[in-house]
Amino acid sequence: MIKKSLKIPNHVGIIVDGNGRWASERGLSRSAGHAKGASNLEKISIYAINLGIKYLSLYVFSTENFKRSKEEVDYLMDLFVNKFKSSSKKYNKENIKVIFSGRKDNLNKDVIDTMKSIEKETKNNTKGVINFCLNYGSQYEIIDAVKKIAKSKIDIDKLDIETFNKYMYNELPPLDLVIRTSGEERLSNFMLWQSAYAEFYFPKTYFPAFGKKDFDLAIEKYNMRDRRFGGIKYEKKSS
Ligand code: FPP
Repeated sequence: MIKKSLKIPNHVGIIVDGNGRWASERGLSRSAGHAKGASNLEKISIYAINLGIKYLSLYVFSTENFKRSKEEVDYLMDLFVNKFKSSSKKYNKENIKVIFSGRKDNLNKDVIDTMKSIEKETKNNTKGVINFCLNYGSQYEIIDAVKKIAKSKIDIDKLDIETFNKYMYNELPPLDLVIRTSGEERLSNFMLWQSAYAEFYFPKTYFPAFGKKDFDLAIEKYNMRDRRFGGIKYEKKSS
């Protein structure tokens, strides 16, 4: 159980990593690792929103992941469709809203239809938001925002951070904490704009084995960080 006194971050990102290594260490197929990762993701997401996290962004498929074998990509796309269909009821029961960030090109109709349907079915939910980053690349998100801005009628001299944020795939608050499992310590094109002042946490655990206790530890570590947002905190002088 997480300590009640801990500050719960508003927006947490998870870079899901290590499904393949988790599986190969157990003599299983990569697909088995993804399947285990998917069921764990559902469990951890619901747990996180129930802790009071209002936004949870999950990096589940990058634009670059299309470079993987056709077999793996096809498996993942089917997994998305099946999982979104089966999770929809649970997210509704938990009052969780589901949204997506990413480009729609390259995704097949089945995937797009399931994404639209879960978004529609959960759109009025209010406890928290799960943002699946699927066919997502942060540099593309920024380029796509710039294109929308260029086509809009906004006064370019008035463009500021808040306005720019409205042109992203979704208007989201800044990330407070980014967790990447499996021990890799890089962002891999995940929410560069939104993580400007995020704290980073890189547990060694592979995602399929990343449980509630590991998530609690991430929140504890976050609470130990001194967030200054570019300012300076002076020590109080004892008089
Ligand atoms: C990274 O691990 C994981 C992925 C690219 C896929 C993540 C997808 C899921 C957990 C399924 C999510 C399902 C839904 C419904 C959203 P990796 O394969 O790169 O692991 P490795 O680095 O050990 O090979």
